Amino acid sequence: MNASGHKFYVTTPIYYVNDRPHIGHLYTTTVADIVARYHRLRGASVFFLTGVDEHAAKVVDAAAEHGVGPQVWADRNAAVFLDTFTRLGSTHDDFIRTSQDRHKTRVTEYVRQLMAGGDVYAGQYEGWYDAGQEEYVPDNKAKEYDYKSPVNGKPLVRKQEKNYFFRLGKYRDRLQAWIEEENPQFVQPSARRNEVLGRIREGLNDVPISRSGTDGWGIPIPGDEGQTIYVWIDALFNYLSAVDTDARSDSWPADVHFIAKDILWFHAVIWPAMLMALKRPLPRQVYAHSYWISEGQKMSKSLGNFIDLERIDTYVADFGLDALRFFLATEGPMGATDANFSHQRFIDVYNGELANALGNCLNRVINMTGRYFDGRLPAAASNPGVLGQLGSASADTFVRDRGAASQQAMEKLDLQGAARCAMDIVRSVDTYIEIHQPFKKIKEPSGRDAVGTMLYTCAEALRHASVALWPIMPAKIETLWSALGCSAYADALRDRGQGDLEAWTSQWGGLAPGTPVALEGPLFPRAQ
Ligand code: MSP
Repeated sequence: MNASGHKFYVTTPIYYVNDRPHIGHLYTTTVADIVARYHRLRGASVFFLTGVDEHAAKVVDAAAEHGVGPQVWADRNAAVFLDTFTRLGSTHDDFIRTSQDRHKTRVTEYVRQLMAGGDVYAGQYEGWYDAGQEEYVPDNKAKEYDYKSPVNGKPLVRKQEKNYFFRLGKYRDRLQAWIEEENPQFVQPSARRNEVLGRIREGLNDVPISRSGTDGWGIPIPGDEGQTIYVWIDALFNYLSAVDTDARSDSWPADVHFIAKDILWFHAVIWPAMLMALKRPLPRQVYAHSYWISEGQKMSKSLGNFIDLERIDTYVADFGLDALRFFLATEGPMGATDANFSHQRFIDVYNGELANALGNCLNRVINMTGRYFDGRLPAAASNPGVLGQLGSASADTFVRDRGAASQQAMEKLDLQGAARCAMDIVRSVDTYIEIHQPFKKIKEPSGRDAVGTMLYTCAEALRHASVALWPIMPAKIETLWSALGCSAYADALRDRGQGDLEAWTSQWGGLAPGTPVALEGPLFPRAQ
């Protein structure tokens, strides 16, 4: 439990299983993982949910193309998603599949409650449908898009069907007040919030929540077997169904739903309105990041520029998983603009930040400690003078200031800022070594004490930086901890354990002089 006695609950979208995961899916899950790890590091009890969305028409189509039924196809791809996320470092506490009974029975119950409460009625719907997004597009938007999907460019289809409708319009004023006045943090980043508010102000139509004729794939509308619950309604409920149990009831409401901008409307408008109708508490935040594009262009099958699972695996094999996580965290589209996944940029970030800055700093400190102090961390002088300074401040003040700034950034979900503050400490160590030149000083007759102070200062500063970097690069940082003799941190955090960020970073002097320090091979070998 964290200070408020609440569990920190973080989610990702549940991904369609018509195909295998690509960089976009891995990105959102990695962002959620970094945030989950950060909260565990702070000592909070975390519940992190990811999973897959199975009852989509495109899953039925993909299955048919491969000559199998939808469940077989969903089983195959769900296994690939789960395996990929697990292999690639995700510490989710649960992986939900919408075809699971635990989900289906609860969704039936939620829809039954909506019907009983008078929030659902039967009617006819006619409108433009975007099959790829499984979504009706309002007439004015359809015209604006030239009757093509804004996401995949395919023609919108005119559809008419009997549907059950949810009275979304009824919740307009409450939603607007919730987002605009009562919870300014509800939709982030703020550009996305303005977008949502703009559309709410235009008015809200009731929305269909069922489909006819989906051949038994999906969850039937209670009392009308000819109608299936619309895949989006089914899917949104995953966030609640996963924790709507006695053991997990303290998890709801979610602290943050991470999504991308493509699915903002469902999460920022339809989902909270349904929760209002069900008289359930609303999630605290919906964070909609932007898109990765690839080498300057939108990722598409026809261009063949998808960062697909094969390419992801190549990056992991060539540079290591943590390097990929660092790149995603520091270069990714967390804000309101898209981010470019460029191979050259990846190499530059890898060499600049990881091999040359962090890896090289650690190497130098460990090598010099090996050479000059038999591999045992020297003690710093009690009055180190200028050797106790990083930048223009005392090393103590400097690392605590950067550490606090890193935490503040993380609290605002600014992953890039959080990493930058930690890397400021690393760079200050680099500069310190350049200025004080321990490798020269050691040759002076009375230089040994000064070099001891230098190496201790560098190692202790790296320890502070490393704690802030752990959520992003857990495996590499654990190697660094083992090199510097603080494996106890890794022990505390193993198997979704909880850390003590406050205790580990509030003090200068956490490393014990005399501790053996050693590292086998560079942390990040330079890339050519
Ligand atoms: N099944 C729905 C979500 C239901 S959530 C209740 C869905 N699935 S999806 O497979 O299409 O995944 C969409 C999500 O994948 C985005 O919201 C985002 O998290 C991630 N991304 C897909 N492409 C992406 C990029 N190019 N860049 C970044 N993330 C993207 O929509």
